[in-house]
Amino acid sequence: MAKPTSQFMCQSCGASYTKWAGRCDACGEWNSLTEESRAETPKALGGGAKGGRKIELVGLTGTSKAPPRMPTGISELDRVTGGGLVPGSALLVGGDPGIGKSTLLLQAAAALADTGLRIAYISGEEAVDQVRLRAARLGLSGSNVGLASATNLRDIVSTLDDPQGPQVVIIDSIQTMVMDSLDSAPGSVSQVRACSHELIRLAKTRGFAVFLVGHVTKEGSIAGPRVMEHMVDTVLYFEGERGHQFRILRAVKNRFGATDEIGVFEMTQGGLEEVTNPSALFLAERRGNVSGSCVFAGVEGSRPVLVEIQALVATSGAGSPRRAVVGWDSGRLSMVLAVLEARCGLALAGNDVYLNVAGGLRITEPAADLAVAAALMSSATGMPVPADLAVFGEIGLSGEVRPVAQADLRLKEAAKLGFAEALAPPRRNTRSGKTTKKDTVTRQEREPDAAHVTDSLRIREIGHLQDLVALFPTDSLSRKDDAAASE
Ligand code: TYD
Ligand code: MG
Repeated sequence: MAKPTSQFMCQSCGASYTKWAGRCDACGEWNSLTEESRAETPKALGGGAKGGRKIELVGLTGTSKAPPRMPTGISELDRVTGGGLVPGSALLVGGDPGIGKSTLLLQAAAALADTGLRIAYISGEEAVDQVRLRAARLGLSGSNVGLASATNLRDIVSTLDDPQGPQVVIIDSIQTMVMDSLDSAPGSVSQVRACSHELIRLAKTRGFAVFLVGHVTKEGSIAGPRVMEHMVDTVLYFEGERGHQFRILRAVKNRFGATDEIGVFEMTQGGLEEVTNPSALFLAERRGNVSGSCVFAGVEGSRPVLVEIQALVATSGAGSPRRAVVGWDSGRLSMVLAVLEARCGLALAGNDVYLNVAGGLRITEPAADLAVAAALMSSATGMPVPADLAVFGEIGLSGEVRPVAQADLRLKEAAKLGFAEALAPPRRNTRSGKTTKKDTVTRQEREPDAAHVTDSLRIREIGHLQDLVALFPTDSLSRKDDAAASE
């Protein structure tokens, strides 16, 4: 039987099928299979993989040099990359259209050029004049950046394959690049995969660092194959709420540094400006003495970030109450509401609940649970949370408040920003995390909201969600037992 000449590839995850289907079995995406020529997938090793060169196996110990770094001149970018760019490495920068990827990379290109490095900025989306205009607007025209507008990968590779070539290359964006030996359209899985592979291979042999800009689908993953995330060394996401000026650069994968690290920028008329003290910025718009607002002492990567969490609990007009969450996980909100109801007897489930993380930051830490609960309680009872109170702690399903990582860092930041009091989980009894029988006894015997004072900050330990609820006047709230009693 003749081999089929075409196949169907999922544009989301790169899985391939012989027949078209409405839904990709591998990733569950609908309508993502498109027909591509079979000749475009790399052939398997012929001849049964014989005749290769022997590779040397070495021990785990030995002297390996730390990778040399090229500082970018933008400290927030250095922080996210783990101290600068590593020669020969590939970085993928993803983000929604219009969020500022091109702006960030143009500024990085200029800053890198100013440190004396040879830079190539290749735009497949904008003409040279357009990029020049932007550079002029950003006041970067004086920097020595090699600029080109091109999409043909063959031309780009020939240009970059030079010992005297650039040390940092920026490709904006990978979805516009075309390998002319392939039939498929720019942006398809085959094209994106082949072009990235070629550029990454060249980066390794020539020793330049390459930034690949990638568009993001509406689901939030980098468009084209997810395989691309495996090919690069570092994956950075540039995110932010439209309508807010804050932009967060987040490392989700980094072979040369820590992940979860964030860089904070502010989009201004003159381009992106670094924000060295994000807490002060996120709290700047806060209005004191309003109910439904609570400051969460969070940590992003190695850096403490204090943000305001706003909640609105309103009586529901509709049959099924509304829940709307911005900047946090809606499943987590449902959990906090369920624990408030089941463990503290507060019936909030019938209300509309809105939750918002001010400033456009997206929080992923469970440590925000207690602050969310405080904001909800404050809105439901109408009692403002004191403006100089910071809150953190994870809530378990039985209502217990669990210790979270880096409590000291959070407390220190709160004290630094002039907060007077903190609600925090009880300190862990044992360092190893193992609780002996004796420990359990002492933990139970301990006052649940034992307060102690460190320097200027008074710390009140909250052992159970009920201890938090007890701080609010709950008489006006409907209770679960009321409903049960009236039956
Ligand atoms: P851009 O870098 O083109 O986004 P991307 O490459 O991610 O698609 O950013 C474009 C947006 O940034 C545009 O909406 C205007 C805004 N912007 C400013 O607010 N100030 C500036 O100095 C620049 C250059 C852009
Ligand atoms: Mg762009």
